Amino acid sequence: MQRVYLDNNATTPLLPEVFEAMRPYFFEKFGNASSIHQQGQQARSAVEHAREQVAELLNCRPAEIVFTSGGTEGDNLALFGLMKPGDHLITSSVEHHAVLNACKRLEEMGCAVTYLPVDGRVLVDPDDVRRALRPGTKLISIILANNETGVLQPVSEIGKIASEADVYFHTDAVQAAGKVPLDVKEIGCDLLTITGHKMHGPQGAGALFVRRGTLLQPMMYGGRHERSRRAGTENLAGIVGLGKAVGIAREGFADGSVERMAGLRDRLERGIVESVEQIGVNSGDAPRVPNTTNIYFDCIEGEAMVIALDLKGLSVSTGAACSSGAIEPSHVLTAMGLSPDRARASIRFSLGKQNTAADVEFALSLVPEVVARLREISPVWKKAISPQPSALS
Ligand SMILES: Cc1ncc(COP(=O)(O)O)c(C=O)c1O
Repeated sequence: MQRVYLDNNATTPLLPEVFEAMRPYFFEKFGNASSIHQQGQQARSAVEHAREQVAELLNCRPAEIVFTSGGTEGDNLALFGLMKPGDHLITSSVEHHAVLNACKRLEEMGCAVTYLPVDGRVLVDPDDVRRALRPGTKLISIILANNETGVLQPVSEIGKIASEADVYFHTDAVQAAGKVPLDVKEIGCDLLTITGHKMHGPQGAGALFVRRGTLLQPMMYGGRHERSRRAGTENLAGIVGLGKAVGIAREGFADGSVERMAGLRDRLERGIVESVEQIGVNSGDAPRVPNTTNIYFDCIEGEAMVIALDLKGLSVSTGAACSSGAIEPSHVLTAMGLSPDRARASIRFSLGKQNTAADVEFALSLVPEVVARLREISPVWKKAISPQPSALS
């Protein structure tokens, strides 16, 4: 059976070039980057090369990069590394759970957290950020690209507000890296999180940009790895893979592959809009990353649609992957004003470098048919389309 994977915001397949770059570091170049012998030096030089590659992606100094186990650790290190009981943090109601649940823990530890609302396109208003500032505000943490709708927040404006107020600014750029160019100077952030597996690198390897001079309390204590900001023997092969994936992602901005992906996403979105009634694109009129479209299909249970498509060979998701299986409607879609039913009826299609025009046509050949079948058995749909009794009868 043909299988097409359109859930690249959950994770992406490793590119063969990335695997080839990693392979020697599992075998002949297996050293510990802290050892002084030859294998150790080889490992150290590979880690430092990857650090340079990540620094080039973000336009920062290599010394400002801390390797982590991924996005969750990067977000947690940024928040717990800076916040102390009594400090105030400003974030949004549409963050990934890696930030939201860290914020809940910070509140339990005696920090104050303001969760800003978003508008109907999932956008944070920078004026709301300004208004939320107060004495004791230590940190602003706003997601750069939303994992569910792909919406890009006005982070440069927020960065200016943070800098004028002399408050730290962290942005979770996990879903933005490799999809839009990132420049920490332009964004004006002090901390920025990325992870390898959303950009065709390995799972379990990520990085946190920490602006020089930002004093971060480590979360783990041990050796003096990563300039004492993250103890533990480096994930050598993972870091090499992350560096390689980052290099390929940077090429994507120059070789037209990002535009190609945007074209495929637009074709998919248009094709669905033209062939299925009573649907809408969530955040369709907002600035978005080029690979994501999130669509509600009225009178459909999103989970049922994911399963029906999966049985026919198409992988997509409803809500955030990390909370898939939960019955709760997505916090992002309800925050933008969608009813719980419409939020539950929303499907995320997210493309990766491996996807082709044929994959999009495959999806377009399945979605209208599956929606029609699910609506046929939906009592809500039957009620919605049955003729209303006339006021005169
Ligand atoms: C926006 C965002 N932040 C953080 C994470 C967590 O990243 P990781 O899976 O590398 O821990 C994810 C993963 O879905 C994400 O989409």
